[in-house]
Amino acid sequence: MRIVVGITGGIAAYKAPELVRLLKKAGHEVRCAATEHALEFVTRVTLETVSGAPLYSDLFASGRTEHISLKDWGEMLVVAPATANIIGKVASGIADDALSTLLLAFSGKPVIMAPAMNCEMWAHPAVQRNVELLKSWGIRMVGPEEGELACGVSGVGRMAEPEAIASAVCATTRSQRLAGQRWLVTAGPTYERIDSVRFIGNYSSGKMGFALAEALAKEGAEVELVTGPTYLSAETFHETSLRQHIHITSVESAREMYTAATEAFPQCNGAILSAAVADYRPSECADHKLKKNGSEGMHLELVQNPDILATLGGKKTAAQTLVGFALETDNEEANAQRKLEKKNLDYIVLNSLHDKGAGFGVDTNKVTIIGRDGSHKESPLLSKQEVAGLIINTVTS
Ligand code: CTP
Repeated sequence: MRIVVGITGGIAAYKAPELVRLLKKAGHEVRCAATEHALEFVTRVTLETVSGAPLYSDLFASGRTEHISLKDWGEMLVVAPATANIIGKVASGIADDALSTLLLAFSGKPVIMAPAMNCEMWAHPAVQRNVELLKSWGIRMVGPEEGELACGVSGVGRMAEPEAIASAVCATTRSQRLAGQRWLVTAGPTYERIDSVRFIGNYSSGKMGFALAEALAKEGAEVELVTGPTYLSAETFHETSLRQHIHITSVESAREMYTAATEAFPQCNGAILSAAVADYRPSECADHKLKKNGSEGMHLELVQNPDILATLGGKKTAAQTLVGFALETDNEEANAQRKLEKKNLDYIVLNSLHDKGAGFGVDTNKVTIIGRDGSHKESPLLSKQEVAGLIINTVTS
């Protein structure tokens, strides 16, 4: 989304560059507009550097009608910090500088304000009346919060933290395309216990599965994420507001993942199984640490784990979409196609092992998405977030 960040003259303006950075990290394009007073607290160079675009601060800069082009460019306007002054100006329809002019011109599109001021000012009936008026026009307020203020006193007036403002922005921009849908995602490796301190595992990081869960939530879905052991957690999701829509169940073994996934699947519109499930587990798990037995070698008997994907393929209704992953080294497409048919899938995502930067542990991936309907989509080398977006768009369209 294209977001204009408006900055007014309060000490909290020093936090505006961090807000811009967070919004850009979440994938938004950002331009800044600042009042003259804001530039007493944060410099033009800083704002232009973090946003990567020229700052809009002068209404009369050589014949420009920037408030018009910027209002056409921007899809959302976030004012942080918003002083009592800018709130009062908007409430009264005053447009006497760059930002207030932009605010009045920015009608019909979402506006978020993060007020910041001294607590007595915030409590003043004029400010409270103005805030209520702005809210009644659909302007969303984030904060202010209670805490120590720059003037040395404590009270309500602190600007909400940049994370909270970015989170409110993302909540407003969340697509509703998959609203009302629930999807199951499996992620990460499984650990199969040998004894009380050892296991059989693999190098899967879980990054692809976590990126898929976030991409689904971003499109409006509720997500059941069943994950094997990984260092990733809800904290990993770039957009904090999406965390409440991703329900994480942590498991260790293939059998635990099987139980969690088969229980969740009937309530889901679809499932994407990206976990690297161990095909076999030790037939027995010792409840103590196994000692060296004195001989040169050791035999470990393995038994097969249940195939979660094939089980869901057998239970799938016509209304459900099932997507599996395949990691092949030779006859890649033919093997993936065979797996798609055998496990009754709608799509299979073929992971390339031949391409540098694709596969386990890394942040990038390159995939081919093969559909039951014969469709075939090949991606370039992309970040796992971008690959996740491509997969979600393909399998939910
Ligand atoms: N899968 C699963 N349960 C298993 C094994 C795999 O759900 N017990 C899923 C994976 O999450 C992935 C797909 O099945 O979506 C991978 O299929 P699989 O046949 O296991 O691939 P490979 O392990 O590569 O199979 P093979 O060894 O037969 O090539």
